[in-house]
Amino acid sequence: MLGGGAKRIEAQHKKGKLSARERLQLLLDEGSFEEIGMLVTHRSRDFGMEKEIYPGDGVVTGYGTVNGRLVYVYSQDFTVFGGSLSETHAEKIVKIMDLAMQNGAPVIGLNDSGGARIQEGVVSLGGYADIFYRNVQASGVVPQISAILGPCAGGAVYSPAITDFILMAENTSYMFVTGPNVVKTVTHETVTSEELGGAHTHAARSGVTHFACANEVEAINNIKRLLSYMPQNCEEDAPRYAYEPADERRSTLNSIIPANPNQPYDIKDVITEVADTDSFMEVHKDWAENIVVGFARMGGRSIGIVANQPAYLAGVLDINSSRKGARFVRFCDAFNIPLLVLVDVPGFLPGTDQEWNGIIINGAKLLYALSEATVPKVTVITRKAYGGAYDVMNSKHIGADLNYAWPTAEIAVMGAKGAAEIIFKKEISEAADPEAKLREKEAEYTDKFANPYGAAARGYIDEVIMPEDTRTKLIRGFRMLENKVVKMPKRKHGNIPL
Ligand code: COA
Repeated sequence: MLGGGAKRIEAQHKKGKLSARERLQLLLDEGSFEEIGMLVTHRSRDFGMEKEIYPGDGVVTGYGTVNGRLVYVYSQDFTVFGGSLSETHAEKIVKIMDLAMQNGAPVIGLNDSGGARIQEGVVSLGGYADIFYRNVQASGVVPQISAILGPCAGGAVYSPAITDFILMAENTSYMFVTGPNVVKTVTHETVTSEELGGAHTHAARSGVTHFACANEVEAINNIKRLLSYMPQNCEEDAPRYAYEPADERRSTLNSIIPANPNQPYDIKDVITEVADTDSFMEVHKDWAENIVVGFARMGGRSIGIVANQPAYLAGVLDINSSRKGARFVRFCDAFNIPLLVLVDVPGFLPGTDQEWNGIIINGAKLLYALSEATVPKVTVITRKAYGGAYDVMNSKHIGADLNYAWPTAEIAVMGAKGAAEIIFKKEISEAADPEAKLREKEAEYTDKFANPYGAAARGYIDEVIMPEDTRTKLIRGFRMLENKVVKMPKRKHGNIPL
């Protein structure tokens, strides 16, 4: 019960970290934890290890409930050989992963480990691979969540990387493939662990972590909240929450779009208004902020939201925002969570940086993910839907079930000024007053295309709705789509551009 002993637990506390068992106590419903493999010990007989036997071997594994729902858990114990992964430590994790897959419930890993058990060599590496393999087998079958609450370095990072969500605690956790010392030797960069792979770095720079939490308690509370939006496995629906129908009109939405089309507004204000009160949980908040993704509830049912953010880089799609959106869409689709897509996008970000780093392949990820998703898919265009980004953002053409537009929607190949400059180039240059001519042609283009009616006339938009009615339409729409079934052609798997 004391892992590596009271002294080491005290050292753990001094670092601002909890022990493996304390973490499980916070995570699981009181009295629900059933431990599996408490008496397992390592089999190493090298380097004096035969004298260093700790029952449990550095990981506490088992099952319990979170808000009454079954979960499988493992919690690495840094007080036993630094939580390092031995052959038997890995076997314990593998055992609960197999149980989770067979019984259809999420796996939650609380990681705090010095990596492969150095005294054991290849059997420890084999243990990692056994876990990675199961992470992949479980992907899309049961939700997998990883909290990083201490070191997670080298090969160890690849288990969390394959899971659905990663949470990190600020200042006490870090993830990297090679630590600061190796970095110094190889690239001559001087960097601290925190800078290289701390929670903030991975939340804002790399996008590796979905949540940077102030401390471990916050991280564990976030896991519990996250679970509330998910089903237990890919064959079930997410839990429903009590919901009393009320007046769903949200008149503040009528004035949310600024008069000037180039002025930003915060799409999160729209999300807050259309979703059930306090139900929005943002994912990947600090990374690729030009797209907002997260879970919410609509009339008590879980939905996933993907929304362009005009308040950041004008809501443009770029490499990172496409990757972020695509990954989230695929999670929702795998676990039967309907999708709401809010559109205000001026197009893809131009530039050598984007082109040379593969915006073509990366932008295609979001297009691919939304096209292949078979869950109910509903779109609301609030303002701009320009160019290829119109197609990508859950257009009717790629399988959206319901497409709404506000009267402020502008559905066009590009902005009016750019369009006028291209198609009336000759006329403008030959005009006595080119400036005036440009303005005239711009107005003509705006009149024709900067509205939702051309798209609505063709049925690409199902209805032009007043912003205040959005919530009502969405609740009814998602309810109507509740039993949607799409049969896909038989194939091994698609080939998403990676
Ligand atoms: N294998 C075996 N034992 C390990 C270990 C590993 N991979 N990592 C840490 N430990 C042990 C330490 O020997 C120490 O044992 P002790 O309590 O009996 O003294 C204990 O875990 C705590 O480690 P310590 O180094 O004192 O903690 P720290 O907080 O100062 O540093 C690390 C933590 C993870 C940065 C450091 O332990 C480390 O660099 N470990 C090796 C990482 C690595 O290269 N792993 C293999 C590649 S995946």
